[in-house]
Amino acid sequence: MSSARGGIVDTKAWQELKSHVGEISKLHLKDLLGDKARCESMMKEYDGIALDFSRQRATQDTFQKLFQLAKEMKLKDKIDRMFGGDHINSTEDRPVLHVALRAPREALIACDGKNVVPEVWEVLDKMKDFSNRVREGQWLGATGKPLTDVVAIGIGGSFLGPLFVHTAMQTEPGCARLAKGRRLLFLSNVDPIDAAFTLKGLSQETTLVVIVSKTFTTVETMLNARTMRTWITSTLGPAAVAKHMVAVSTNLKLVKEFGIDPANAFAFWDWVGGRYSVCSAVGVLPLALQYGFANVNEFLEGASSIDSHFRVAPFERNLPVLLGLISVWNVSFLGCPARAILPYSQALQKFAPHIQQLSMESNGKGVSIDGTPLPYDTGEIDFGEPGTNGQHSFYQLIHQGRIIPCDFVGIIKSQQPMYLSGEPVSNHDELMCNFFAQADALAYGKTPDELRAEGVPDSLVPHKSFTGNRPSLSLLLPNLTPYTIGQLLAIYEHRIAVQGFIWGINSFDQWGVELGKSLAGKVRNQMHLWRTKGKVVEGFNYSTTTLLNRYLKGKAQIYSASYGVFPSEVIRKN
Ligand code: F6P
Repeated sequence: MSSARGGIVDTKAWQELKSHVGEISKLHLKDLLGDKARCESMMKEYDGIALDFSRQRATQDTFQKLFQLAKEMKLKDKIDRMFGGDHINSTEDRPVLHVALRAPREALIACDGKNVVPEVWEVLDKMKDFSNRVREGQWLGATGKPLTDVVAIGIGGSFLGPLFVHTAMQTEPGCARLAKGRRLLFLSNVDPIDAAFTLKGLSQETTLVVIVSKTFTTVETMLNARTMRTWITSTLGPAAVAKHMVAVSTNLKLVKEFGIDPANAFAFWDWVGGRYSVCSAVGVLPLALQYGFANVNEFLEGASSIDSHFRVAPFERNLPVLLGLISVWNVSFLGCPARAILPYSQALQKFAPHIQQLSMESNGKGVSIDGTPLPYDTGEIDFGEPGTNGQHSFYQLIHQGRIIPCDFVGIIKSQQPMYLSGEPVSNHDELMCNFFAQADALAYGKTPDELRAEGVPDSLVPHKSFTGNRPSLSLLLPNLTPYTIGQLLAIYEHRIAVQGFIWGINSFDQWGVELGKSLAGKVRNQMHLWRTKGKVVEGFNYSTTTLLNRYLKGKAQIYSASYGVFPSEVIRKN
């Protein structure tokens, strides 16, 4: 691969960091953690959120070099250009302005010469009014019943962010109180099993469907939308769509063509990337219907607080910048291809799935922003589970197998405190004991000498040894409220942008998802022709042709055995 001229590898800082790896390799975290001044310099705090990155395989010198790299890659300028509404998503010729979605009403954020904040607030006000009317029973279903259940149809960014926030809010006492008697469900997969799960126990009379799609063309979402429309109208009649279906999209023309009154559509804009859209109507509408607008507004305020910090704080104490630089260090210099997201809160169980899309769709790129093939890897393989469940699953590999930098996210005050009398600590404390223990276990490890001193037989010593020196960082949040959920979201959004800015890629396009989509269209076409015209499958390689024929014939046989028809309408329906 040729190198991106003028790119990161040509910077002096990159070369210095490369040679610095040799010095770092000689150091062990157990020694680094003994250096109090170093540790103090690696603990930062902003608006209640504490970041401890003293368990990174890095020294203060490493960070000076990383700041120099940030300077040479013009990080400050790139952040300013993002906030300034420049078309930094150059392959789609769009600005990247999700920060405008949570800006205060009086803020001014210009996009192509126009302040976009007033129109953001116009839609927010419309959502506040609509969600209040639904929640208070002023907006009723076609048979006059209140709409207590919401099904949000969407996929990718039109699903994962809202699901993460919903899951994080549902056990928060203030949110739970306002959600009483209401349900929020998501339908994302085109697999009809997902529809079966979602529809279980729902009644058309009390269900409001929110179709969420930036483009309003995503095949899975539109098929699910038609499925839900059929479900509604088959019982309540075609006119019920007006009361039971609303939409969130940038494409209001297609919303109208689908049969939804534009008055019942909630707009957002091309300058919001799908995976960065949870603060738009994509997340705000379903969440406001479930938890009330005030809670969602708090969530937006939390995100906005991080936006201000990200924009102005010096890099030395800028949480998203520090986190982004840590990731670049681990991926590009220490050669760690993955990152584990380990929240010690069950309420954050959907955080890692959201970060998977946010990070991997943003930074999993093979060329620089100017289209030159990259001579280095970008992005991480993100995965994760809440602690302590993950400990009983994949932590073995993290402790004794591969080196996976870990993000531990802990909460000081549980959403659901519980203490059983006679127990040494509360249930949440027990959880948090693991949060603290795991980070140190990874850093320190356990030596053969320590094991022998404990009387471990020689044959078991190699199996029970831990090398340690495995990097992690810890984020400690005061509580898990709508506000801190918003902060956490924005910290990661900006961290991922920082990584992309340093790597010199476009973190805001996603061309890599297109090829599979168009090939699925080709398969769909052949399936349809085979079934309706008996046309032989063609145009694929031997493998695909053989498997596709096996699928088509297998399904036809199963249905002809049951219904005595081959091929038939039945097959098409199933
Ligand atoms: O699969 C790619 C993608 O374009 C994501 O980036 C996006 O979040 C998702 O599909 C859904 O797109 P839409 O909101 O347009 O339905």
